[in-house]
Amino acid sequence: MAKAKIHYVCQECGAIHAKWMGRCEGCGAWNTLLEETVSEGPPGGLGGARRSAKRGRGVSFVPLEGDSAEAARRVSGIGEFDRVCGGGLVPGSALLIGGDPGIGKSTLALQAAAFLSQQPSTSCAYISGEESIDQVRLRARRLGLASAPVQLAAATSVRDIVATLDGPDAPQVVVIDSIQTMYIDAMDSAPGTVGQVRASAQELIRLAKQRGFTLLLVGHVTKEGMIAGPKVLEHMVDTVLYFEGERGHQFRILRAVKNRYGAIDEIGVFEMTDAGLGEVANPSALFLAERRGRVSGAAVFAGMEGTRPVLVEIQALVSNSPLATPRRAVVGWETSRLSMVLAVLEARCGVLLAGKDVYLNVAGGLRVGEPAADLAVAAALLSARADRPVPEDAVLFGEIGLSGEVRAVGQAEQRLKEAAKLGFAAAWSPPRPSGRKAPQVEIAVDEIAHLDDLVARFEAEA
Ligand code: TYD
Ligand code: MG
Repeated sequence: MAKAKIHYVCQECGAIHAKWMGRCEGCGAWNTLLEETVSEGPPGGLGGARRSAKRGRGVSFVPLEGDSAEAARRVSGIGEFDRVCGGGLVPGSALLIGGDPGIGKSTLALQAAAFLSQQPSTSCAYISGEESIDQVRLRARRLGLASAPVQLAAATSVRDIVATLDGPDAPQVVVIDSIQTMYIDAMDSAPGTVGQVRASAQELIRLAKQRGFTLLLVGHVTKEGMIAGPKVLEHMVDTVLYFEGERGHQFRILRAVKNRYGAIDEIGVFEMTDAGLGEVANPSALFLAERRGRVSGAAVFAGMEGTRPVLVEIQALVSNSPLATPRRAVVGWETSRLSMVLAVLEARCGVLLAGKDVYLNVAGGLRVGEPAADLAVAAALLSARADRPVPEDAVLFGEIGLSGEVRAVGQAEQRLKEAAKLGFAAAWSPPRPSGRKAPQVEIAVDEIAHLDDLVARFEAEA
């Protein structure tokens, strides 16, 4: 007889507790434990714990060297998507596309499925647990993809889906939209709980590996983490892509945060239009499109996103604060990094910003994670404070150390090339490390060795 056992599972981190508690011992989150029933019993049931008194069989070892052919990747033809996946989808792998509700995950998944299904000998199934067949059809029509040979189904039972796909003629690519709507009937907990999400994903991933199809899971992330976030899934899948963007902007950025088959930090840039997601082949031009000439408080950062250079404008505003603790607001960058730059400016260069509110914004909705943006941030701050613009035709990059020194960053040549390509004439950058060749780029490189040099440029005639 199957025995039901009650667990309390943290919906934030997935930790299992025997007793209910107000605070999860695993991650410290409050009020995240939810009762889940797990049937422990005879093996074979979907999701149930598989226990058996039988002794295991021996595992045979093979040498590390051997002929294991690398399977060809399935390329969708959507360049931005393929690149982020590491050059196409790997057969038998599982991919997770996470993102806030409404950001465009279903649109991306449907476009990818439709494009893949048009490739030779690639059949695609799209299983929707959120939308009805009619809704998906309407969306496909709006995207101009209604004639793509995608096999469409609306289903939420993992048992039914596994039974359907478990055959030699399984499709090559299966999209599940979304994993939070899937459930396994052997478990009592509701769809969307950590237990269900984990067990459903486990079954589907097992089948994908066995049958060699690529599994594309769509997952929601909520700020509160009340619906089981895809965090618990990240360990189970081969590739994790995050689809992000600011609500008010039409740009969407697909970012690889884990990839067993490719580089991480690679981004794909899309634009949400009436006809779905369009590829943005030249993101720098897009991010700089709304730049207005000589204004103070703006600096162009020559950044790198994965293997691709991207130029973005960093904007700062410095104003007198009426508050005892002045405001520090940051959009698109790390708050702690801003605090560090402000502290170095104050302690090493005597630039006082203590009584000022400071606002920092990365224009266009991009989130910058590189320390290489330090110099551009410092320039935007100094420019805003002195009300003197940064030269219009200059880009900046460089990391700032705690003693105020400006440190070299990687891929300087690629950053400079992108800047030159977009018509910039100068680059304010760290001194070239000794022994490194001068880059062959038609741009005036203006080396800044210490933050004092940068401060001096804004104070010369002030
Ligand atoms: P959707 O893919 O449903 O988001 P998710 O699956 O991540 O919840 O897309 C949501 C938004 O995208 C919706 O607000 C409408 C917008 N959208 C467009 O602007 N153009 C389009 O062609 C489509 C299909 C959607
Ligand atoms: Mg959706």
